[in-house]
Amino acid sequence: MKLWGGRFTKETDRLVHNFNASISFDRKLFRQDIEGSIAHATMLAKQNIITDSERDLIVKGLEEIRDEISEGKLEISQEYEDIHSFVESELIRRIGDTGKKLHTGRSRNDQVALDMKLYIREEIKETDALLKNFLTTIYNIMKDNIQTYMPGFTHLQKAQPITLAHHMGAYFEMFKRDRSRLTDAYNRMNLSPLGSGALAGTTYPLDREYSASLLGFDGPTLNSIDGVSDRDYLIELLSALSVIMMHLSRLSEEIIIWNSNEYRFIELDDAYSTGSSIMPQKKNPDIAELVRGKTGRVYGALISLLTTMKGLPLAYNKDMQEDKELTFDAIDTVKSCIVLTDKMLSTMKFNKDIMAASAAKGFTNATDAADYLVNKGVPFRDAHGIIGQLVLTCIERGISLDELSLADYKAACPAFEEDIYEAISLTACVNRRNTTGAPGQQAMEKILKHYEEYLSRH
Ligand code: ARG
Repeated sequence: MKLWGGRFTKETDRLVHNFNASISFDRKLFRQDIEGSIAHATMLAKQNIITDSERDLIVKGLEEIRDEISEGKLEISQEYEDIHSFVESELIRRIGDTGKKLHTGRSRNDQVALDMKLYIREEIKETDALLKNFLTTIYNIMKDNIQTYMPGFTHLQKAQPITLAHHMGAYFEMFKRDRSRLTDAYNRMNLSPLGSGALAGTTYPLDREYSASLLGFDGPTLNSIDGVSDRDYLIELLSALSVIMMHLSRLSEEIIIWNSNEYRFIELDDAYSTGSSIMPQKKNPDIAELVRGKTGRVYGALISLLTTMKGLPLAYNKDMQEDKELTFDAIDTVKSCIVLTDKMLSTMKFNKDIMAASAAKGFTNATDAADYLVNKGVPFRDAHGIIGQLVLTCIERGISLDELSLADYKAACPAFEEDIYEAISLTACVNRRNTTGAPGQQAMEKILKHYEEYLSRH
């Protein structure tokens, strides 16, 4: 059951049919295929290439096919090569010869390019909506934790005290950028390839601007060869999806660390963790691990498509059919990872006492102690050395900087006074940091207001 049997005298080998066919996966595009065909038929009638009554018959037939597939009444038969062949053949079966006029001035090459763009546009919108929900979850955690102290890390070593709000704010920024990358990709790809034909346009007086506007595109693509052979938009999408996964994976990694027996910064909700079949005490962060693991799969899709495209001469080549399964899989993977991470994050508990106690240990206030001396007139390099020695003393005695006596401080440098204790308290260390983007309460409140506006505007 082919659209192109005319030139052939022999049946296609079964293995060849199966190898060549894309219907097992491009069936996902039936709605988009029909939407595109309706726009094409509408344009053909407007240009008097078909009559209005032919258009009506075609449109009605296509709508029925779409509805019946949606309702499960019409099965997409694997006997066809692809979804385009199935829909067209089914239309002809239903309305007869008029159905044969639908493909006037069109090729499967511009048809498939259009279908994919229509599909991707919807998926970008859905992914963006999921990211927005996720950002709202992050925002809520931030709002509740302006005063939740924790150590900030570099090299996975305690560095300076921060707050949970500040830490989560870093993820807010990442996922905010991810949304804007998706929007960029959307805006750049939103041009219609319909009417490009096989590669060289057509001799019919098609109104490409009109069909583009019917489908909500900003206009038609401006080169028919590019129209059928461009897959940049998929590569851009896969690249944006890869960055999303990289961000989700970093967050997952932190959740795994924070959930470990050694850290215990968080408690995962029972509904979002799993047990061990042998070790009864276990509560494992499988969701976070899977999200981290699935990142490889999405990167794989990006590299795979880049590699598929790199050697292709213009214009369409069948290699490009390989764009579909991996793109569908990457999108589905990313969407489920966002949803699961969102749920995991919004249900987990933060052990605030443990986080604060951890921030209080590990000399996260050493920089502030040095800054204290600088404020008393000691040059920073000297102050750094003095505090370094005091840290060494503390390590030897197994205590923290707050626990040194004033006599110890004065012995190290006479500039120390009683107010050193206030200066290196957790609250002071965090809340004196009020430059834009810093963890101090004032700075944080400003950023939260900004995020609130962002969430209401975008
Ligand atoms: N299944 C094909 C694809 O996904 C549709 C386009 C087929 N075009 C062709 N000239 N064989 O790329």
